[in-house]
Amino acid sequence: MKKNVLIIGAGGVGQVAAHKCAQHNALLGDIHIASRNIKKCLAIIDSIHEKGSLQNPRGVLKAHQLDAMDTAAAQRLIEQTGSQIVINLGHAFVNMSVLEACIATGAAYIDTAIHEDADKICEAPPWYANHEWKRKGRCAEQGVTAILGCGFDPGVVNAYAALAVQEYFDKVDSIDIIDINAGSHGRYFATNFNPEINFREFTGQVWSWQDGQWKSNRMFEVQRTDELPVVGTQTAYLTGHDELHSLSQHLDVPNIRFWMGFGEHYINVFNVLRNIGLLSEKPVRLDNGQEVVPLQLVKAVLPDPASLAPGYVGKTCIGNLVKGSQNGQPREIFIYNVADHVEAFAEVGSQGISYTAGVPAAAAALLIAQGTWDVRRMVNVEELPCQPFINLMNRMGLPTHIREAGREDMLLGWDEPETEAAQA
Ligand SMILES: NC(=O)c1ccc[n+]([C@@H]2O[C@H](COP(=O)([O-])OP(=O)(O)OC[C@H]3O[C@@H](n4cnc5c(N)ncnc54)[C@H](OP(=O)(O)O)[C@@H]3O)[C@@H](O)[C@H]2O)c1
Repeated sequence: MKKNVLIIGAGGVGQVAAHKCAQHNALLGDIHIASRNIKKCLAIIDSIHEKGSLQNPRGVLKAHQLDAMDTAAAQRLIEQTGSQIVINLGHAFVNMSVLEACIATGAAYIDTAIHEDADKICEAPPWYANHEWKRKGRCAEQGVTAILGCGFDPGVVNAYAALAVQEYFDKVDSIDIIDINAGSHGRYFATNFNPEINFREFTGQVWSWQDGQWKSNRMFEVQRTDELPVVGTQTAYLTGHDELHSLSQHLDVPNIRFWMGFGEHYINVFNVLRNIGLLSEKPVRLDNGQEVVPLQLVKAVLPDPASLAPGYVGKTCIGNLVKGSQNGQPREIFIYNVADHVEAFAEVGSQGISYTAGVPAAAAALLIAQGTWDVRRMVNVEELPCQPFINLMNRMGLPTHIREAGREDMLLGWDEPETEAAQA
């Protein structure tokens, strides 16, 4: 049984995970939040008190200043706080330094995004092999649990993929992960999570897994239109994404693609920014000699994604369209979740995209605390038992539904032993 949680990163997703951990602090123990800017951690703590989120009101809830690029400092904080579970929700640039601190201390590690090197974008597949998986052997030797990519996508969609392969099909031909945000934040232009990371996803090659091999496209080159539950008819574009780099290696499925929905306005602004060089990650020198990374400048002038939360309306629909066969018959199902921006704001003060990423990370912490997912090695989500995770999220605000042949069902869950996580 592990307890005491250190959340690193006090952005939009950090805020959701902190609220959700606070709602379950009877099992999780002390909750610590650390970021470069301690004021952001303190604001999250205020919001937790304001919403009465602490399950055990006398539980420890503390803010810390931390530069998570500094492995020794992260290690010291893990030790000082007695944290046995670390949820890394800082920018993906800090993943390896935080993971190293976990390996050094034996704390369990959870993140929600693939590691990024500042001077590389859309790395060669499988991207996890370039950074995270190089540390697999050391995690296994030290008995360190490291759960990679446990937000919604990557994260829940990996569990949906495993669920489809294990429970619904004899043979899966294709998994198309479709991510639609049909919400509206009312700003001229904004990204729903860190703009720098968001744009870096779209400026390089679009990798997808097709016919059992990697295929490269350009962003906005390939599109599809689907009639989806709740959000209706939506156009989405073939996009490179974290989960393809692990699902392709762990599941015997020849076609795995990721599709993200974009409005025309987003595409126009994105194309202008990219075409004039403002999305470049390479530094440029100004006349006065100062060096500026254009992408970081754009990030600095765009709205902070967390600030979009108060006026955000509408819903998200994210799910896996899975095609294959069972008992010799063709089968097609859509496994999905619908989240509501307004409901997310009312519960935890955040917008829906942060909510869909932060709840699964907190659910993973609960499953580690309770032992079900404390596997003492490095894994991607599809390698873990998916049922307790989906069951738990049904109770934590992200219910799973399945659509087949026009019929909608809520995946109400499976019988599970009466564990503390089940009661959480
Ligand atoms: N899987 C999914 O479904 C999913 C969805 C959305 C986002 N994500 C991922 O979730 C993570 C957080 O996203 P977000 O939207 O919350 O981003 P965000 O609002 O930009 O927040 C990131 C936080 O990390 C902190 N941080 C950055 N570098 C740090 C460092 N060196 N040391 C300590 N703290 C540092 C920032 O610090 P300060 O503000 O204190 O300077 C900020 O508070 C990202 O990796 C993102 O890619 C995953």
